[in-house]
Amino acid sequence: MHREDFELLKQDIIYFDNGATTLKPKCVVDAISDYYNNYSANAHRGDYDISLKVDETYEKSRFLVSEFIGSDSNEVIFTNNATDALNKIVLGYFAHYLNKDDEVLITTSEHASLVLPWFELSKNIGINVNYIPLDNHHHVTLDNVKKSITRHTKVISLAQVTNVIGDVRPIKEIIEFAHLNNILVVIDGAQSIPHMKINVKELDIDFLAFSAHKMCGPTGVGVLYGKYSLLKKMYPLIVGGGMNGSFEANGDVLYNEPPHFYEAGTPNIAGVIGFGKCIEYLNKIGMDNIHKYELELREYALNRLKEIDNIIIYNEYSKSGIIAFNYKDIFAQDLAIYLNKYHICVRAGNHCAKILKDEINIKNTCRLSFYFYNTKEEVDKLIDVLKNPNLKKEII
Ligand code: ALA
Repeated sequence: MHREDFELLKQDIIYFDNGATTLKPKCVVDAISDYYNNYSANAHRGDYDISLKVDETYEKSRFLVSEFIGSDSNEVIFTNNATDALNKIVLGYFAHYLNKDDEVLITTSEHASLVLPWFELSKNIGINVNYIPLDNHHHVTLDNVKKSITRHTKVISLAQVTNVIGDVRPIKEIIEFAHLNNILVVIDGAQSIPHMKINVKELDIDFLAFSAHKMCGPTGVGVLYGKYSLLKKMYPLIVGGGMNGSFEANGDVLYNEPPHFYEAGTPNIAGVIGFGKCIEYLNKIGMDNIHKYELELREYALNRLKEIDNIIIYNEYSKSGIIAFNYKDIFAQDLAIYLNKYHICVRAGNHCAKILKDEINIKNTCRLSFYFYNTKEEVDKLIDVLKNPNLKKEII
């Protein structure tokens, strides 16, 4: 779908690494150039026309993002990326409210950006980071969440969709149960928000983090969503211009309200403007259409991969556009390099999910991660290259 919108797809390339970052449609690139060419003033600081236009366009992006996830506009904080947002949530909020021996539950399939901030907090204030066991398909079940909760559990922190196993977690049920037990829930939406419609209010999410660059937007922009009541109690990790109303020589400071309280310094204006355009673009395509199409493509690719005896699939039962696999007796990175000879881009390695190895008993995998512009024909080309009788010889 919509391949014509992507300049890069005019090259002889098959791009199956959308979990790492997606391609950028021309309308997003144009919106960024338009800002730099025609009104490149700062935001929230000027009283002249081009600066007012920046304010209006920047805040329109915030509104578009809030509408996209079903939040209020003042609950959307622009960050550098999902990692930055997760760090701000953990170190800006939870560092101030958790105590020694409080427990945070995560899983072994989470990304480094979710795991490491909690490890830091564990070192700093002595919280315990424990793991919800996964089922035989490496999925999270509500039952296992229920069994894992103790009287010390204060937070559950999970990806909605993980970046290697690609399982869609039952977050609505998990959040409902967590809230009955006074537990807050932090959702890493980096691999879900680009691919499916979600509504933070309906799901009752406490905190959510995601990145623009995995959903056709620019790099260097992410979102921290928090319920406003929680944002009011969070602490900024960065202070400076743009987040205060006034300050005095004696140290008295009058701070702005969220979201501006958490956006000190000149933000990534071009990026935020490009992000707004990308939300409009995705809305036009329709998130439900994107999700449905990706699942179709996944089914097709799975069935075709199963034609090859040497392929091992690690996440057959996940319901997302992510397929983690290996070719028997070939190191994942060697296979990725081989595929690159045929202009096929896949990611290989541990994908920053470094403790997943304890779960799937292998450190490195190749990962296909689809987006709406991928096609069955591209999958067919991948299969042809994987069926090449000289594959092993070409790798050695
Ligand atoms: N988190 C990104 C990935 O999974 C970079 O590839």
